Amino acid sequence: MLRLQAPLPDRYTTASPDALREMIRAAKAELGDRLLILGHHYQRDEVIEWADARGDSFKLARFAADSRATDVVFCGVHFMAESADILTSDAQRVVLPDLNAGCSMADMADLDQVEEAWEAIAGVTDVERVVPITYMNSSAAIKAFVGEHGGAVCTSSNARAVLEWAFARGDKVLFFPDQHLGRNTGFDMGYDERDMRVWNPHREFGGLEDADVKEATFLLWRGWCSVHQRFTPEHVADFRAAHPDGTVIVHPECAHEVVEIADRVGSTERILDFVDAAPAGSVIGVGTEIHMVQRLAADHPDKTVVSLDPLICPCSTMFRIDAPHLAWCVESLARGEVVNRITVDPVTAANARVALQRMLDIT
Ligand code: 13P
Ligand code: SF4
Repeated sequence: MLRLQAPLPDRYTTASPDALREMIRAAKAELGDRLLILGHHYQRDEVIEWADARGDSFKLARFAADSRATDVVFCGVHFMAESADILTSDAQRVVLPDLNAGCSMADMADLDQVEEAWEAIAGVTDVERVVPITYMNSSAAIKAFVGEHGGAVCTSSNARAVLEWAFARGDKVLFFPDQHLGRNTGFDMGYDERDMRVWNPHREFGGLEDADVKEATFLLWRGWCSVHQRFTPEHVADFRAAHPDGTVIVHPECAHEVVEIADRVGSTERILDFVDAAPAGSVIGVGTEIHMVQRLAADHPDKTVVSLDPLICPCSTMFRIDAPHLAWCVESLARGEVVNRITVDPVTAANARVALQRMLDIT
C-alpha cells in the first residue's frame, strides 16, 4: 500500500530535541482542548510524552469515540487513525503524523482477496452461517466488508468475547488478517488444531479442499505480524533458564507454540497492567515490541523487565512517528492548516462503523 509522506520542512528536520519539545508544547498550549493527542504503547518516548491518552488499540478507539476535540492527532499506525475517523463526527479531523506509518499485517488482507475468499467459501458451505471477524489491524474497507456481512471487529483485548458473540450467530468464523490471534483465541476457548484451517489468499481456494471448509470452525487468514512472529519457544526457554522464578507474558500475535508456554498472554494494555501490578523484585520476560518493553523497564526500576528476544524487535512503522513529525502536525494545526488528515469515504465509514460499534457494544 503506497502512502507517500512528503519530506518535512528543514525547520523540523534540523531542530534540536529541545527546540522540537518547545514547538510541541507551545502549539499544544495554543490549541488547548481543541486538540487530543492519542499515543499507542509502541510509540517512542519523545512522542508518547505528549499523549493526552495512551492505550492499546481498543482503548484508543474508545478515547477517539468519546472525544469532543476538533483535532485528534493519532500517534499510532494508519488503521488506528482510520478507525478513529470512523468513530468521530464529521466535524472532527484525525491526523496521522507520518502517512507511511502503516501496518504490514493489515496490508496482508485486501478487499479483493477477502471478497474472492467469501465467494469461494459460499460455493461449498452456507455462508449465512459464516461470521466474518476482522482484527482491528485491517483497513477500513475490510471492516466495512465485515459490517456488511454480519460480522464484527475485534482487538487483542476482546477477541474471545467477540468470537463468543460470533458463535452465537453462526457455526464458523472467517478470521482475518492475523492467524495467530485467531488460533490463540480458539485454543483459549477450548477448540484445537482440528477445528482450524488456514486460508492462504495466494493459493487457489485458499490452498484448501472443500471438505476443509465444511469441517472447519475457524478459517484463519494466513497473515501475521513480523514483529511478534520473531518470538520463539527457545526465547522462552532461555529466559526461564536465566530467571527460573521469572514470569513470561506475551502478546497474542505471537505464534501458538510461544503462547502455550507463556505464563500470561494479553494485549499491550494488559501487559502494562500486569507489570504495574507485579510486586517489587519481580522478573518479567515480555514478548512484544521493544519500545514498550524498554519503557516498562524504565518506569519500573524496582523490577527487572526484559524483552524475550535479545535482538531488538521494533515495529518499524510505529517508529516512523517522531518528534519532528508531531511538531509539524501540531504547529500546522495551530495556524489553521490541517496536514495528513485521514478520511474514510462515507459509505465505507458507515459500514465499518457497524462492525466497530458491534465490538464496542459486545465489550
Ligand atoms: P494492541 O491492541 O494490543 O495494542 O495491539 C496492537 C498491535 O498492533 C500489536 O502489534
Ligand atoms: Fe502491525 Fe505488527 Fe506493527 Fe502491530 S507490531 S502495528 S501488528 S506490524
